[in-house]
Amino acid sequence: MKKRLLAPLVLTALFFAACGGGEKKADQQTDKPAQENNAVDNSMVSPGADKPASKGEQLMAQSDCKTCHKEEIKVIGPALKDIAGKYPNTPENVDKLSDKIIKGGSGNWGEVAMLPHPNISKEDAKEMVQYILSVGK
Ligand code: HEC
Repeated sequence: MKKRLLAPLVLTALFFAACGGGEKKADQQTDKPAQENNAVDNSMVSPGADKPASKGEQLMAQSDCKTCHKEEIKVIGPALKDIAGKYPNTPENVDKLSDKIIKGGSGNWGEVAMLPHPNISKEDAKEMVQYILSVGK
């Protein structure tokens, strides 16, 4: 009888001991990344400062483009570097792509359509295309 009672007690003790150990570890882990994040934050501010964004990049940041387009990965629209890989930077392509930004549409990358941007001027759209076609090159 006595032995049977003892076993669950020992197990319970072990269980708590294990948990206690785990908590300590978690504490140490949460302390560290916080410090590392601070270091990363600081280092990211300075390289961006001496490399100003191009006009097209700024225009895209002010519009809704980044909701659907990222530089490296496909989101809803194709990745900017994939667009740059598909179209050589010729006056015809810049013209065609800036029209597409203004009018929207689908078919070149799949079924999903890009929203039209009737408020963007042709000049601004061309600046954006110049930036897009330079991504990854
Ligand atoms: C609602 C999501 C969405 C937004 C917002 C969006 N796009 Fe797109 N974009 C797409 C999709 C989807 C495609 C692929 C269209 C296709 O298959 O022809 C695309 C394609 C493109 C292409 C390639 C066109 C082609 O025919 O190959 C360019 C250039 C482009 N977008 C630029 C922009 C710019 C600049 C903006 C901001 C002014 C913008 N996009 C905003 C979804 C979006």
